[in-house]
Amino acid sequence: MSRTLPYADMEKILSISKRRGFVFQSSEIYGGLGSTWDYGPLGVELKRHVKEAWWRSVVLDRDDMVGLDAAILMHPQVWVASGHVENFTDPLVECRSCNRRFRLDHLAEAAGIEFDPDQTAKLLENLACPECSGALGDPRQFNLMFKTFMGPVEDTASEVHLRPETAQGMFVNFANVLNSSRKKLPLGIAQIGKAFRNEITPGNFTFRTREFEQMEIEFFVKPGTDDEWLQKWVQTRLEWYVEYGIRRENLRLRQHGSDELAHYAKDCYDIEYRFPWGWAELEGIASRTDYDLRQHSEASGQDLTYFDEETKSRYFPYVVEPSGGLDRGVLAFWLDSYDEEPDGDNVRVVCRLHRKLAPVTVAILPLSRNEKLVPAARDVHARLRRHFTTQYDDAQGIGRRYRRQDEIGTPYCVTVDFDSLDDHQVTIRDRDTMAQSRIPIDDLVSVLQDKIDHGW
Ligand code: GAP
Repeated sequence: MSRTLPYADMEKILSISKRRGFVFQSSEIYGGLGSTWDYGPLGVELKRHVKEAWWRSVVLDRDDMVGLDAAILMHPQVWVASGHVENFTDPLVECRSCNRRFRLDHLAEAAGIEFDPDQTAKLLENLACPECSGALGDPRQFNLMFKTFMGPVEDTASEVHLRPETAQGMFVNFANVLNSSRKKLPLGIAQIGKAFRNEITPGNFTFRTREFEQMEIEFFVKPGTDDEWLQKWVQTRLEWYVEYGIRRENLRLRQHGSDELAHYAKDCYDIEYRFPWGWAELEGIASRTDYDLRQHSEASGQDLTYFDEETKSRYFPYVVEPSGGLDRGVLAFWLDSYDEEPDGDNVRVVCRLHRKLAPVTVAILPLSRNEKLVPAARDVHARLRRHFTTQYDDAQGIGRRYRRQDEIGTPYCVTVDFDSLDDHQVTIRDRDTMAQSRIPIDDLVSVLQDKIDHGW
C-alpha cells in the first residue's frame, strides 16, 4: 500500500479532534485553561492503546524489565538530591513593553542563533520581542517545578512539588524493586504517569503542555556496559515507533551536544519526529551514569549499591533512560496516519493508524435499522466486545458510516445484512484496501484476532 499524501496539517487534525471527540480544550465552557487538554472518548482509547503497546514491548515481552506506579507527590528532599531544585530551570526573558514572557533559548533558536548561556547579553542585542518588537529585559533562571502544600497549613514546611518527571520514583524505589523481584542486573523499571512542568511557552496543541504523561524506563546496568546499552535502547525505541506505524523518513536521531546535556546526563539521543512545524523531540534516551543513585544514597543515608555475585563486588549501577512523552507519541502516531485519497468527486479521509492503536478496533454496522437486523447485529456486537474495543453504529447510510470509521482509523468494520439472517455470515471490510470478505459469525473472533495479531 502506498501512502503518498503528506501528513496532516494541524488544522485538519484539530477539526477531527473536536468534532469526533479525540481531544477537547480543558474547562472549555469557562473559556479554557491555557494549553491544557482533555482526552475525549476516542482520544482516551487511542492513548490507552499506545500505553498498552509500550508496556507490552518494554515490560511484558522482556525478562529484564518490571513495572512501577509511584506517587506523584514525593518527599521534598527527593528534588533537592536529584538536582531539580537547583538546576531544573529555563532562561526566561520578559518584554519591557508588553510584559509577555519567553524562553530565551527558544527565541535564539527561532532567530537561527546558537544559544550560549554565558553569552546572553550579546544575544539580547540581536533579539526583540516576537509579539511587539519591544526590548527584552535581563534573563533570569525560572524553575519549572509546580509547588503545592500538603496538609492544612500553607507554610514552607508543608511545601511539596508535583513531580516534573516520573524517573525519580524509580530511583528511590531501586532497592525495593531489586530486593522484592530478586532479579539481577541488567534490570529496568518502567513507569507511565503524569508529570508537571510550569513551561514558560507551552503550545502546539498537546506537544508542550504543563501537565502531561511520560512513559519512562530506568535501565540499571553494570558500569562500563552503559554505552553499549545506550545504543541498544536507542535502536529498540526507534524501531518501536516504526513498528507501530510512523514512517521511518519522518523520524530521525539527534545526539545532544555537550552544552545541551541535562545536569545528570553524560550522553543523550533524541528521537525526533517531523511535526508540521518542524523536527521536534518525541523521546530522549539518556545515559545518566550513577548520578541519581549516588545522590539519593548520600542524601538519604541508605545504601543503594548493588552486590554483583559474579565479581563479588559492590557498586552503584549506571543508568540508561529511554524517556518518551505519551501525549507527543499519541500526536505523532495520529499525524503520521492521516491520509486523503480521491473518492469519486469527493475525498476519502482515512487515518491509517496501526490496527493495535486505533481507538476503535472493530465497528459493528447493521445494514439498516430493520427490526430483524438489529437483534442480529446486537448479538454480533455482544460476541465481539468481550475481545476487542468496539463501536456499534446504526445511524445514517452504510457508506457514510464507513467514512466515519475511516476518519477515526477503525481498521475493521463488520456489516450485518439480510443474508446474515439466513447464512449466519457477516462481511468484514478492511479500512485500507476497502476489500470485503464474508466470514461465518462463529469464526469472527478468531479471524479478527488473527488479522490484529498478524496484519491485514
Ligand atoms: N526523565 C527524563 C526526562 O524527563 P525530558 O526530555 O525532559 O526527560 C522526556 O522529558 C519526554 O517527556 C520528552 O521527550 C517529551 O516527549 C516529554 N515531555 C517533556 N516535556 C513535555 C511537555 N511540557 N509537554 C509534553 N511532553 C513533554
